[in-house]
Amino acid sequence: MKIAHLSDLHYGFSAERDALLERRFFQVQRAHADHLILSGDLSQSGRAEEFRALAALMRRSGFFTSDRLTVLPGNHDLYSFFFQDFHAGGDFYRKWRQVPRTAMKIHAYDQPQYEKDLSFFIHSFRNAFRSILTLNDRETDPYPFIKLLDERVALIVLDSNRCLPRISRNLFCSNGYVDPGSAERILAHEKLNGKFKIVVLHHHLLPASVVSRREGRLFAAATRLINRRTLVALLDRFHPDLVLHGHYHRQEIYQIGKAIPVMNNGDYRKWGLVEIKQGLTITASD
Ligand SMILES: [Fe+2]
Repeated sequence: MKIAHLSDLHYGFSAERDALLERRFFQVQRAHADHLILSGDLSQSGRAEEFRALAALMRRSGFFTSDRLTVLPGNHDLYSFFFQDFHAGGDFYRKWRQVPRTAMKIHAYDQPQYEKDLSFFIHSFRNAFRSILTLNDRETDPYPFIKLLDERVALIVLDSNRCLPRISRNLFCSNGYVDPGSAERILAHEKLNGKFKIVVLHHHLLPASVVSRREGRLFAAATRLINRRTLVALLDRFHPDLVLHGHYHRQEIYQIGKAIPVMNNGDYRKWGLVEIKQGLTITASD
């Protein structure tokens, strides 16, 4: 089983990036990957035309079926109201010259809006959600879910955007939150017994202190998973074989908890290849 992992495509940011991404999909196809995982921020701003172009690209490269593709949303795919000005050549700072209005919009973003945005994401990539095991029957919100790739390998897919962009702790619509109750129930699912378990989410699991040393305190605070400690403790209990994520735009392999391997492929110019034969081989590609 060969799994390609890409993240943070931010499709729609610029023509140059989109062209590189198009080549990348066909490169993954030529590497004979059995399955492609895109762990969030597929689009730059969750616009219909970005999702449509991506779906067409997935179809052209042969990945637009549930047995070959798994997707989950990143903050850019959901908080379209916030990211719609953030394109190459765009006026990135217009929002912050209108701080009160932007703050009001973040404050007003509520559960119904979240559900609407998530449902639009699901609908845009609906082919990727066939034959999944969920905790409920809500087609518009299947997260968290399990996808069995073959008789040995299982993906456990989480939505780490469950934090509404409350102004007090999500000023840049970039923080994350995983619902611990449903995460625990899916990790304890009987169908996972004896399987090689790969957990996938969007947000990174590095301690804020590590990110702060590298990128500064503001970046660390603005991008962190708010309940990271709870999730790491949960993962320690169920001990998946691998965790994949993006969000933090770099490629690296690290460990969390009791030696759980984690791979970040948040740099759109790079990708990871996970091969499961007798054991696990992780290759960082560019
Ligand atoms: Fe992100």
